[in-house]
Amino acid sequence: MVQKICLTWGTALLLTSTSISPLKANELLEYGEYLSKECSTCHKKNSKTKGIPSIVGIEPESFIKVLKSYKDGTLKNETMISVAKSLDDEQMKALALYFHSLKEPEKTCQKQ
Ligand code: HEC
Repeated sequence: MVQKICLTWGTALLLTSTSISPLKANELLEYGEYLSKECSTCHKKNSKTKGIPSIVGIEPESFIKVLKSYKDGTLKNETMISVAKSLDDEQMKALALYFHSLKEPEKTCQKQ
């Protein structure tokens, strides 16, 4: 295992609503990290650059909803449409978990 999993509310909600087990969640996080390399050329971790929004810390459910809206053409952005079309449901889930987990980890994972 390369990283500890830090469960935040959003993550916990997603896990409950989609019944992913914690073990599976850890695998998804690692998969998400791997997939995110494709995204981070545009989406930098903590900044907005040239009209590209930061995607760190978005609630996983909204994150997936947005990607699906690009995929089905409800949201019209050529770049993101082609990105979203290359992703299946599991990949979206993995990315949603991963980018959400990047949000202020030092706060959400702080030891008492
Ligand atoms: C070539 C550049 C590029 C790449 C690569 C890219 N994106 Fe984007 N992304 C954008 C731009 C530009 C927008 C804003 C589009 C708009 O205004 O509708 C965006 C918007 C988004 C949004 C919506 C954010 C919001 O606040 O509305 C999400 C979520 C997102 N991208 C996820 C991803 C993921 C996940 C990947 C990798 C699988 C990825 N993007 C790869 C350029 C990129």
